[in-house]
Amino acid sequence: MKRSLFLLVVTAVVFAACARTQEAGSLNDPRVDKLMKRMTLDEKVGQLVLFTSDWTVTGPSMRQGYIDDIRAGRCGNIFNAYTADYTRKMQEIAVNETRLGIPLLFGYDVIHGFRTIFPINLGLSSSWDPQAIEEASRIAAREATAAGLHWTFSPMCDISVEPRWGRISEGAGEDPFLGSAISAAMTRGYQGEDLSDPATLLACVKHYAAYGAPQAGRDYNTVDMSERWLREFYLPPYKAAVEAGALSVMASFNELDGVPATANSFLLKDVLRDEWGFKGFVVSDYTGINEMVCHGYAADEADAGRLAINAGMDMDMQSASYFNYLKDLVQSGKVSRHTLDESVRRVLNVKAALGLFDDPYKYCSPEREATETLTEENKAFARSLAAESMVLLSNDGTLPLRKGEKIAVIGALADSKDDLLGSWRGAGEVQSVPASILDAIREAAGPGNVVYAEGCKEMGEDRSGFSRALTAAYGASKVVLVIGEDCQWSGEAASRSDIRIPGVQSELLQKLAATGKPVAVVLLNGRPLDLSEDLPYAGAMLEAWFPGTMGGYAVADVLFGDVNPSGKLSVTFPRNLGQVPIYHYAKNTGRPYVHPEAKYESRYLDVPNEPLFAFGHGLSYTSFEYSPVELSAASFSGEGGITASVTVTNTGEVEGTETVQMYIRDLVGSVTRPVKQLKGFERVRLAPGESREVVFDIDAATLSFYRADMTWGPESGEFKVFIGGASDKVNEASFSYLD
Ligand code: NOJ
Repeated sequence: MKRSLFLLVVTAVVFAACARTQEAGSLNDPRVDKLMKRMTLDEKVGQLVLFTSDWTVTGPSMRQGYIDDIRAGRCGNIFNAYTADYTRKMQEIAVNETRLGIPLLFGYDVIHGFRTIFPINLGLSSSWDPQAIEEASRIAAREATAAGLHWTFSPMCDISVEPRWGRISEGAGEDPFLGSAISAAMTRGYQGEDLSDPATLLACVKHYAAYGAPQAGRDYNTVDMSERWLREFYLPPYKAAVEAGALSVMASFNELDGVPATANSFLLKDVLRDEWGFKGFVVSDYTGINEMVCHGYAADEADAGRLAINAGMDMDMQSASYFNYLKDLVQSGKVSRHTLDESVRRVLNVKAALGLFDDPYKYCSPEREATETLTEENKAFARSLAAESMVLLSNDGTLPLRKGEKIAVIGALADSKDDLLGSWRGAGEVQSVPASILDAIREAAGPGNVVYAEGCKEMGEDRSGFSRALTAAYGASKVVLVIGEDCQWSGEAASRSDIRIPGVQSELLQKLAATGKPVAVVLLNGRPLDLSEDLPYAGAMLEAWFPGTMGGYAVADVLFGDVNPSGKLSVTFPRNLGQVPIYHYAKNTGRPYVHPEAKYESRYLDVPNEPLFAFGHGLSYTSFEYSPVELSAASFSGEGGITASVTVTNTGEVEGTETVQMYIRDLVGSVTRPVKQLKGFERVRLAPGESREVVFDIDAATLSFYRADMTWGPESGEFKVFIGGASDKVNEASFSYLD
């Protein structure tokens, strides 16, 4: 018998012989204990090592050294490798050519879609539609698992109020309530009901924790905040994903309170495991363990490994610190065998839960890869979700466009398929994008009705295209100007110190507006921008983010009114960078700005305090009217509750969807409370003239916060509830609560 076949048989017999007293997925798989008894120290360390595959023009490839390491059982996990064929080949090495045949785990950044790319996450969150986001994650899971993947490094749960930070594009915005609903939805979408189902993907909660609050918005920079602020505003989305069943967590690059998250036992042990009961494994971010040397927290890479694993870091992504030093650390007693075993057990139990010990190849399916990827259904869903994620920031009637009117389409981004995909595009390819925004507008309007001029690029000072753009504008009845950021200006390592529209694009807008033709601005960008200088020149502004594979069509759907925009901002748009950080759950301060002429109140001398566009803002082609807020009772106590309701009426001429938002204010607390805090939302679709009552429950949980003694709960007192279509457009009522 050939060696590989022999090993396969032995492995199968060993696994089968282990009585299946508990189901795979229980995270205490009996096969794991049996297996661990047979593992050498090297093999144990190997299960905690995660190395990247390289990606070349001909597809994924592995350095020979890594292949030798897999063969020797010294590398148990791979990321950046996909396609059913390729992962099968790699898996065959692990299963057939290693001593114990333990399957590899394959991870990848499936962030907003795998082959079918959905809008960037900040865009997804602007849909305020967790159910649709769950479905998008499920589609991503189906496509990714067909290509052999088991594990996605998503959901990204980082709350951020920092538009300079490029990675704000990857998250759900500024709010912990909305962020939690979305991170839980994504987790459910990826992992489904049964992780061992070959169409479900292991989720990874990242970047734990508070990565979204780097000082000055510079990526990887220091984070420092009070524990109360951390717990109240930053931790909830990670926790929600853990509670939704996510079985892996990625530590963030940043330090917190002076300790890098990678070796932060407060985060990794006290909060994650002891408080939240997390049972899966923790992985570092890319070379995060070694980076502790640069942080000035570890003396060298061996020391970094020691600190990391002792603090609760199970798996090393790409540092090779565990690979190189963990064995010695255990042999010298610097890391206990118990600590090592715990980490190995966690990783193996997740592999068992994925069903890899039952069938290591269950996720490699060329047939599914061919038939379940980029399907017409997936693309149709991506198109509708992209349209749903767009936010109509302003409109004087310029939009919707009429089919048949002459339109000048201007801007380099209008003609770019590549930028539609955003910077974290999984395995999304530009060849799969059927239409740029320009193509889609041409299709919708009829080619004879559209004239295109580039005008200028997204960056640079070149104005030589202005005159052709102006000629095009003069010949049209309306202008669609597509401007914003190059997609690589968002995402990792893409911080900016200036959040205005780059290059000479704003200047072009001003020149186009001077033609007297109404200009509809379509924005492609991955962060809140400072649009103060642009707003007065735009007849309408549509925030389209980076909308994904079907984004061109989705933009046209919204521009022509085939889809009525319904997106709402999940993050505040400041008037300028000087207002940052600016978010809707700000405190009142001791000197709130209430008197227009006052000097010694908390205000700016040069701009209003209010943002340009508030959290929750987003217009529609119809209008909605809100009734006053009605409460079922003026007070409640203990475990009781009341309801707060409004009747929303579509007062316009077309059907539309409104996201009704509820905010709460606790007037006096043992610690100060935000002036408004999102505590509920509901999307309602209304025909013209139709009214609907929207009812929110308010109970002790709605009012709970970290009190002065750091316990979580409500306090007796007076409260306000606000309901409306944006955080700055609400009706209010008052009630009291007795503990
Ligand atoms: C670094 C990024 O911070 C993280 O989000 C990503 O998952 C890993 N690299 C793996 O690509």
